[in-house]
Amino acid sequence: MKQLSNLTKNVDMTLESLVKILDYSSDEIFVLDGNKTIIYVNSACEKHYGLKKEDVLGKSSVELFEQGYWKPSLAPEVYEKKKPLFMKQTTNLGAELLTSAIPILNENNEVELVVTTARELQNYNLLKRNEKTGVSASKHSEQTEIDLITNCEKVKSILKFTQKIAVTNSTVLIQGESGTGKGVLARYIHQTSKRKEGPFLTINCAAIPAELLESELFGYTPGAFTGANRTGKIGLLEAADQGTLFLDEIGEMSLSLQAKLLQVIQDKKFIPVGGYEEKKVDIRIIAATNRNLAEMVQQRQFREDLYYRLNVIDIKMPPLRERKEDIIPLSYNFLHTFNRLYEMNKLISQECLDMLTYYSWPGNVRQLENLIERLVVTSDSIIDVSDLPEMIYESIQDNPALSPPSSLNEAIDRAKREIVRKSFQKHKSSRKVAKDLKISQTNAVKLIQKYCEDLRDHSF
Ligand SMILES: Nc1ncnc2c1ncn2[C@@H]1O[C@H](COP(=O)(O)OP(=O)(O)OP(=O)(O)O)[C@@H](O)[C@H]1O
Ligand SMILES: [Mg+2]
Repeated sequence: MKQLSNLTKNVDMTLESLVKILDYSSDEIFVLDGNKTIIYVNSACEKHYGLKKEDVLGKSSVELFEQGYWKPSLAPEVYEKKKPLFMKQTTNLGAELLTSAIPILNENNEVELVVTTARELQNYNLLKRNEKTGVSASKHSEQTEIDLITNCEKVKSILKFTQKIAVTNSTVLIQGESGTGKGVLARYIHQTSKRKEGPFLTINCAAIPAELLESELFGYTPGAFTGANRTGKIGLLEAADQGTLFLDEIGEMSLSLQAKLLQVIQDKKFIPVGGYEEKKVDIRIIAATNRNLAEMVQQRQFREDLYYRLNVIDIKMPPLRERKEDIIPLSYNFLHTFNRLYEMNKLISQECLDMLTYYSWPGNVRQLENLIERLVVTSDSIIDVSDLPEMIYESIQDNPALSPPSSLNEAIDRAKREIVRKSFQKHKSSRKVAKDLKISQTNAVKLIQKYCEDLRDHSF
């Protein structure tokens, strides 16, 4: 390795150690060439965008910008004006950066390189956290735009799919385990739809007694029942007019209310409790549940006709253990959020992040979010493996895949598994995997069958 001793004092500095030094910088360093291609980036990019250096190098910065990794863009200005630029940027993971971009010009006065440094702004503003309980209806349209963080191809294709259905008014059913982000996805669908200027109202069907749920949804006329408000009350169906109504935990809705809801979906009309007059509404309904509705239909706990009406577009949010590539980006996102909320500046060690990716997360994203909040509050300046709760250690010890391989064959098998899964997640077809890994398609099919059973199919 070339010695760089003339650059440093009394130290044998190799290029390798210089790269290491840059990687230890807490600021992000980002270098673009004249075509806006990223030719260098240090490790800080992972905490800002959840992307590994390898995922960034050689990419076009325009492309990454268009994929929403940061905003606003500074490239056009710097390249056009050929002047240094300073700007505040926000990343996909919610990090707020103060970025400076310096163009370096060649002798023809063309931009040869742009050297960008981005420093995270701590405690820049206190983020207002969303209300978590949402027992009755809550109006989300006034809140700041939500960010749905993901690095997972499966979830990305769900998002792409929701953009396609954004122009339609079809009812959407989101199924998935508790804490997988069904509520977040519902809001995302609303925000990408043509109804985004309208209200987004949520009601949690499990949290409200059946009778109350009916009047919350349908509203009531003056004096409809004892204790009713004298002036009556408009229901959520009416309040959500021109917008989206999110029926959370729809599996808990009583059978009689299910019948009434079915009518609303079919006719787009309803009659308030105690009233006579029909009201017409223009709403989109998104429903979510962590129960198996198809099974409930068989057991006659859920109306079949309503099930088919809701099921027009059916999306399944995968559990976090099936999208491990989301664990690190989500962890950083929550770290940024809670650092800001509690006005702290905690860091997290790489070993600790690795440990988080081994755990199975039965409570999914919510469990991860709660853990990071606790760690930000309770740990020292660097969150480390020793800060993790015991249950995470214990479950990892029980996992044979995490113990050292017992033979060379096992080690090779594990490495093969990792490579095939990665390629299949990216390409999703045996033909492309074959091409990617330079193997025959027959071999690719065999390997996919062996290693990727859980990644296959799962249409949504
Ligand atoms: N992709 C994501 N990006 C950022 N935050 C997320 C993401 N998914 C989930 N969260 C956060 O995790 C928590 C749980 O998400 P959410 O409430 O949407 O899950 P859920 O599937 O509706 O759970 P439940 O079935 O228990 O209602 C929320 O605080 C949400 O902000
Ligand atoms: Mg929810």
